[in-house]
Amino acid sequence: MSGSSQPGMDRRNFVVTTCGALGAATVGGVVSAGCASLATVPVRPVNGRVTLELRNHPRLLRPGGFIRIAPGGAAQTLFVIAAADGSYDVLSSICTHLKCTVNMEGERLVCPCHGSTYARTGEVLVGPAEKPLTRYPTSVTRGGALVIELGGAA
Ligand code: FES
Repeated sequence: MSGSSQPGMDRRNFVVTTCGALGAATVGGVVSAGCASLATVPVRPVNGRVTLELRNHPRLLRPGGFIRIAPGGAAQTLFVIAAADGSYDVLSSICTHLKCTVNMEGERLVCPCHGSTYARTGEVLVGPAEKPLTRYPTSVTRGGALVIELGGAA
């Protein structure tokens, strides 16, 4: 599915999910079951972009930290990952093999269905998947906001 946006993704009503020790960085206050510290925050993209104020997501302020964002009510989610060089990788969580949802396991994204494994940059490390995870372009504003271009998936 590389090179196109996620089917069924409602670009007007996103939700941000964080899971981990810092957990509850909520703005909208919807908490999802399945992770004790899972917080879900509705985000409303503007003109095909999601803007995350990094100060509101402390996990993204240190290399290796990540959050997962998801459209409200949809299964598709995106991982937002802070890279060591200060950049951000935003990846679809949909496995490019047969579209199961991958999970973050340590330094890798792993598909529970057939074991495909991806690097945190989306490249395939272990098949059967042959294509990398769909990536979304990002930029960081001078004010410290991460901007994710939803229409620029590749
Ligand atoms: Fe992910 Fe098959 S659907 S490895």
